[in-house]
Amino acid sequence: MLMLDLSFGVVLACTMPAVIIFIIYFIIKARPKFKELQERLDRLNAIMQEDVAGARVIKAYVKEDYEIERFNEANDNHVKVQKFVLKLFSYMSPIANLILNITIIIIIYIGNINVKNNTGVTPGNIMAAITYTSQILNALLRMANLFQTISRAQTSAVRLNQILNCLPVIVDGEFEGETKIKGKLELRNVSFAYPDSPNVNVLEDINLVINPGETIGILGATGSGKSSLVNLFPRFYDSTSGNVLIDDIDVKDYKLKDLRGKVSIALQKSELFSSTIFENITWGKMDATLDEVKHASSIAQADSFIEAKEEGYFTMVAEKGMSLSGGQKQRINIARCILKESEILIFDDSTSALDLKTEALLYKALKKEYSNTTKIIIAQRIASVKDSDRIVVLDKGRISAIGNHDELMNSSTIYQEIYQSQLKGGVSYD
Ligand SMILES: Nc1ncnc2c1ncn2[C@@H]1O[C@H](COP(=O)(O)OP(=O)(O)O)[C@@H](O)[C@H]1O
Ligand SMILES: [Mg+2]
Repeated sequence: MLMLDLSFGVVLACTMPAVIIFIIYFIIKARPKFKELQERLDRLNAIMQEDVAGARVIKAYVKEDYEIERFNEANDNHVKVQKFVLKLFSYMSPIANLILNITIIIIIYIGNINVKNNTGVTPGNIMAAITYTSQILNALLRMANLFQTISRAQTSAVRLNQILNCLPVIVDGEFEGETKIKGKLELRNVSFAYPDSPNVNVLEDINLVINPGETIGILGATGSGKSSLVNLFPRFYDSTSGNVLIDDIDVKDYKLKDLRGKVSIALQKSELFSSTIFENITWGKMDATLDEVKHASSIAQADSFIEAKEEGYFTMVAEKGMSLSGGQKQRINIARCILKESEILIFDDSTSALDLKTEALLYKALKKEYSNTTKIIIAQRIASVKDSDRIVVLDKGRISAIGNHDELMNSSTIYQEIYQSQLKGGVSYD
């Protein structure tokens, strides 16, 4: 532009910074909104996911209107920010075009004077100057759009990196090789609080030694910390203070793979996958044969209902085990746990949906076939743990009493109370 005519260059040098300043202004203004936009989109997705997953509960409680309202609110919030950003950027193009056209008018005006005064500028020079100006300003505008995309991507990248850079808290230890003892568990002065509420001790000062081959019942009200206690063994969480030992070695010293090979746990909520019953059970031991699966199922008292199905062990399980009853899911869960053949078996309230007779048969079969395996049975009903070698009574995160059924009937008031309350419910234990 300067080579065409000095004045053209000066005009462009004045207008170009104006466009750049505008673009920078827009980007600074829109930047924080991008973060907000992404967060509100998150919220919207979360609500949608909850609504789809919980459709039955919503219908059962006739909460459709409430959920629609909740969705609309989140949606409106999202739309509001989205509109703000779009509006902001809709100004950008007209303003840039306005500046472009003003620049062109000034060039024509100055060019006209120069041509008249015979300073060497030709009409061809003016046309060239106009073309250059449009090209330069259009390129700037395109760059502005690029910056918008980059800003957006950057806020997303920051959020993604927050997740990608998360380091696992629970990592492998150093211990390798075989332990001398097999199936011993120990808790030494263990206290535990969940990471998201570090001031509330869910378990407090727990001391307990469980010997190889022993069957231990854990009894206590809901929320007394039973699940939290057994979750410390496979290191789903680490204790806040004190030590958790398996076979006389701190769980933190094991490689996670070895540790979790030692402990087989049937979780309180039976997780099933959408594949066949056979595959769901062999999850515990991938190379198991059909006979092994049948054997584990017979101990878990699952064989009769599985074999009654047309396709037997190869019946498909619907997503999250929807095609099975609660008790059937629990038994498949237990069969999987048994098949894993670990030193330590933990049943976290895994027989709550079984009738007393089936439950009794299950524990009897387990006792017969796995007499050397250490077993921890968590339950709400005294009937489930009555035959255990020892029963631990948990109360508000503390061990309130330990002993066998007869000892506890004599010494523990909490145990007596539970016994009485369950008797009144018409359940008999003899
Ligand atoms: N993931 C968690 N985060 C925070 N608190 C939890 C979590 N899971 C359980 N709790 C709390 O820990 C306490 C003990 O829970 P839990 O061990 O599940 O009891 P139980 O199995 O005996 O019913 C309860 O008060 C519960 O609210
Ligand atoms: Mg529990």
